[in-house]
Amino acid sequence: MGKDSLTITDNRTGKTYDVPIENETISAMSLRQIKAKPDDFGLMTYDPAFTNTASCKSRITYIDGDKGILRYRGYPIEQLAEKSSYLETAYLLVKGELPKPSHLKAFAHNITFHTMIHENIKKFIDGFHHDAHPMGILVGTVGALSTFYPDAKRIFDTESRRVQTHRLIAKMPTLAAFAYRHSIGMPYAYPDNDLSYTGNFLSMLFKMTELKYHPNPVLERALDVLFILHADHEQNCSTNAMRSVGSSHVDPYSAIAAATAALYGPLHGGANEAVIRMLMEIGDIKNIPAYIKRVKGGEVRLMGFGHRIYKNYDPRAKIIKQIADQVFEVTRRNSLLDIALELERIALADEYFISKKLYPNVDFYSGIIYQAMGFPMDMFPVLFAIPRTAGWLAQWAEMLLDEDQKIARPRQVYLGPAVRDYVPIEARTE
Ligand code: CMC
Repeated sequence: MGKDSLTITDNRTGKTYDVPIENETISAMSLRQIKAKPDDFGLMTYDPAFTNTASCKSRITYIDGDKGILRYRGYPIEQLAEKSSYLETAYLLVKGELPKPSHLKAFAHNITFHTMIHENIKKFIDGFHHDAHPMGILVGTVGALSTFYPDAKRIFDTESRRVQTHRLIAKMPTLAAFAYRHSIGMPYAYPDNDLSYTGNFLSMLFKMTELKYHPNPVLERALDVLFILHADHEQNCSTNAMRSVGSSHVDPYSAIAAATAALYGPLHGGANEAVIRMLMEIGDIKNIPAYIKRVKGGEVRLMGFGHRIYKNYDPRAKIIKQIADQVFEVTRRNSLLDIALELERIALADEYFISKKLYPNVDFYSGIIYQAMGFPMDMFPVLFAIPRTAGWLAQWAEMLLDEDQKIARPRQVYLGPAVRDYVPIEARTE
């Protein structure tokens, strides 16, 4: 064995094994040969929540959590946020390269072409309770789309994957906007294909009786940048759900429903809503020290702080903080911003947060902007799911075409009872 290997000595047997190191990893399967007795199963790794396990090789998103770096297909997030559009970024994610002008035009046309949803989906949305959470509606309706597009089952057909990708990126805003309109008892506003991706989304959400909705260009661009920032984030909980469910070779609508459900949770896409609730609970700058004390006592978590990967300032949070100023020039300043800024200042100077490397993440400021733009809190995770669809689809296609991949099926360490005989109910004492 050369230098790029690991020598393991099993102290139970005294045997030595050489395991190759490739890309700073060892293959978990290379441990299977390590057995104390010939009929042993072989050694496994125990890694709940995959904190130190690479589940795939990927060429999509690069994160250096210690340095606070995020790149899509090699391009720094700061450059994309400044110079790109969401649709161009979505193209980059799903196709691997920035589009040529004609390709971007065709891509934008295809997405626009697919924004309408079948009228029956409307009836389906009508069936939800009047105060149904829009994220619950989104999970249900995007899953239901699989029944409208049976051709989506042909997941190894390049053309089918291409069409479903366009449909999903195009229809998620429509489903999301319809879910919102339903939850506030407003008639649905159909897509306006003259508008940009985010302009049309704002129109479907906020259009009233006017013949044409004119989105505010600052808010339209701000939302586009927020969409760029949320488009992918390598192997997070919902992407892992997308890959894992997709690995059973189900259609992409069903897999996206699973990914959206994963995003619904308060530790993932629900965190920005939790941040607003926390800021409202704090209520005033003078209450911050007492709240920090509760966090340090383990009673509550500082929502919008901390990240499994970033042990530095989340680069997305930095960009969002800048957008906040532009948005507040158009909307009224969100009074919660002052509490957030002071909370950040105090936390970043506090030994508890410094020692645990807890910094603001993407969700710390995004909710404040969304609220200022007129979105109710229920819509926050939905605003995450729409742009993340491009990332999910890129990761799904990469997984499908990766020869190393199979149906996801982790092992377990069984600690339950050994075999025992069934006891008839009459023989069981109360
Ligand atoms: N407030 C207070 N303490 C915290 C926080 C927090 N927000 N986050 C982590 N810690 C502490 C935690 O108590 C633990 O301390 P100890 O080592 O003494 O037990 C230590 O830091 C490590 O925490 P962990 O829970 O083991 O870290 P994790 O990698 O499993 O969790 C996290 C990551 C994002 C779930 C967590 O930081 C958290 O709950 N943050 C608040 C929720 C939040 O903002 N989520 C949005 C994440 S970004 C959007 C996305 O990508 O989905």
